[in-house]
Amino acid sequence: MSEVFSLAKAYEKHFKIGAAVSHLNIDTYTDVLAQHFNSVTTENELKYDATEPEEGKFTFDRADTIISVARKLGIKVRAHAPVWHWATGEWMFKDGDKPAAPELIFERIEAHTKALCEHCNDDVYAWDVVNEAIRDDVPEDPSESPIYRSSQYFKLCGPEFITAAFRAMDKYSPNAQLFYNDYSECVPEKRERIVRFIQELREKGCRIDGFGMQQHHFAAPDYDEIKRSIEVYAGLGLRLHVTELDVSLMATVNHGETRLKPGDPGFDEYIKEALNPTPEKLAKIGEIYVKLFDIYRSYSDVIDCVTTWGVADDYTWLDGFGGGPGIPAVKQYPLLFDQKHQPKPCVAKIIEAAL
Ligand code: GLA
Repeated sequence: MSEVFSLAKAYEKHFKIGAAVSHLNIDTYTDVLAQHFNSVTTENELKYDATEPEEGKFTFDRADTIISVARKLGIKVRAHAPVWHWATGEWMFKDGDKPAAPELIFERIEAHTKALCEHCNDDVYAWDVVNEAIRDDVPEDPSESPIYRSSQYFKLCGPEFITAAFRAMDKYSPNAQLFYNDYSECVPEKRERIVRFIQELREKGCRIDGFGMQQHHFAAPDYDEIKRSIEVYAGLGLRLHVTELDVSLMATVNHGETRLKPGDPGFDEYIKEALNPTPEKLAKIGEIYVKLFDIYRSYSDVIDCVTTWGVADDYTWLDGFGGGPGIPAVKQYPLLFDQKHQPKPCVAKIIEAAL
């Protein structure tokens, strides 16, 4: 057993250890954050709907709750996901009764970015400037972009909303690292789209310093594909952060590429399995974590931060995920700390492996 039982200390020579936190309950996690983490990500507090619910009316109370805890802990914040197709008020996309013109949206993005940065710059070391703008699949409708998600932003502006977001963030936050963040980032087809998009963004002269690999595991991880993806993204000259790591119970029973959805073959069996969190499945989650950290460590020359999406199993977005009409919500155990904020057995293994 190591002398200092701390993930952050054990990983100091490799990368930062982060957790996404919520203003709703960060105060319940201060001890575990102080002992094991040296980065925090705002879960929802810096998204548009939290900071500019109405055009020009800015509120930072929720973000400030997190920033003040981070200050007390002496750590900096990964600021998450202002420009995203969710969590954005309809005002962004409207001009009175009409759809907003691209120029108006770019102006709004710039004004928002300026306000965010003026408020947060002292405490933020990295921004997820744009989140999830790349599509998951080949469009059925050939008039849709083969690369970009058909979001309201894209439909109104094309890919230029992304350019506007990166340009504004570069202007108002010249010292923070700027990231693009996405999920299913290790699925080869989506990876190719992300790579094409990043190349295009660079050709337009935008500063992008890093790529955020979300690493939500809904299926047994394909470790080779994860390694390949790290190499591909790092090969673009980007720094990498693992930004939203968690391991769903589904990852212990599903060997597909990604999460099954209602109607997919095998979905009923998958939910049945997920409703039965046997000790074997919980141990398997720990084994998956150990293997993932082995991989991340072996790429610590390009990975600067590994963040779990939550701190401990008492509060995880996955508990409410997957449920729906006729589908039970499944309690999940996807993090490194249990519901009482105690480290799971895999934490000691992950620490030992780093020393
Ligand atoms: C995505 C987003 C996050 C968060 C999670 C679910 O991965 O990037 O901001 O909303 O979904 O909580």
